[in-house]
Amino acid sequence: MVHAFDPGYIAEPFVTLCKQYPDSLVYPLTQFRVEWGPIFHRGRLDGSARILVIGQDPAQHETVVRRILVGEAGRRVQGLLAKLGVTRSYVFINAFLYSVYGSVRAKTRQNPELIDYRNQWIDALVSGGQIEAVIALGRAADEAWKFWKQTSFGADTNIAYAAITHPTQPESSSKRGKVKLAAATKKMLQNWNVALQSLAPEVKHPDLLTPLILYGDSWNDGDRTAIPEFDFPAGLPGWMHEQDSWAKRSGADDLSKRRNITITVPKGVLI
Ligand code: URA
Repeated sequence: MVHAFDPGYIAEPFVTLCKQYPDSLVYPLTQFRVEWGPIFHRGRLDGSARILVIGQDPAQHETVVRRILVGEAGRRVQGLLAKLGVTRSYVFINAFLYSVYGSVRAKTRQNPELIDYRNQWIDALVSGGQIEAVIALGRAADEAWKFWKQTSFGADTNIAYAAITHPTQPESSSKRGKVKLAAATKKMLQNWNVALQSLAPEVKHPDLLTPLILYGDSWNDGDRTAIPEFDFPAGLPGWMHEQDSWAKRSGADDLSKRRNITITVPKGVLI
């Protein structure tokens, strides 16, 4: 069996960006899990991306896999891109390089070093002139795009843009209450439908020509799409990119939870 994989950071300016990234002087340890290192992106870095997605911050699965949006949130967004016919020509970055611990202070979010480094990624991804749409997931991502638009390159660039509800906002806003979750999911899918309708005409070079099928009031079959193997580093076992919940922060207190991520091979893989 042949396995496709993402070769990673092999060309400039990404090689240099991955050599020189901000550390805990810019991302304070009290607000970010800097101890696990930065996680930069997922998707095409070869200039072929047509859609740039800006997420928020990586979680434990991303920490292990070293690519972003690889869990449930990623599958939801992958489905959104598929509705636009984009199955390969996309690239994701996050507003933050490290996983948020607690909350992020305004002073940190507005730190020029943090913004400048992220802007260099956006410059690099947009400069090829191929990106036809940008999607921001949640508030921090929207702010990231707006900061970039304040640069001279950003101000001179005209790309279709949609700031949408973060894909796991329904869960985080409903604390597992089923009725609340259903209402929040419906609201989010309506919000995503508005974005789909505004972006679809702007995506002129999709990977597949597909009629735009909007979301209903809840998740339907096919709305969440598997993340392709070619988005992951070489040699990753199938269950890491096909399944969820195999990595958990574990420990009796906050400090141990910061220090430990337990990885469990899912049932069914061995027996
Ligand atoms: N994982 C990420 O990397 N970013 C998000 O916004 C959500 C999950």
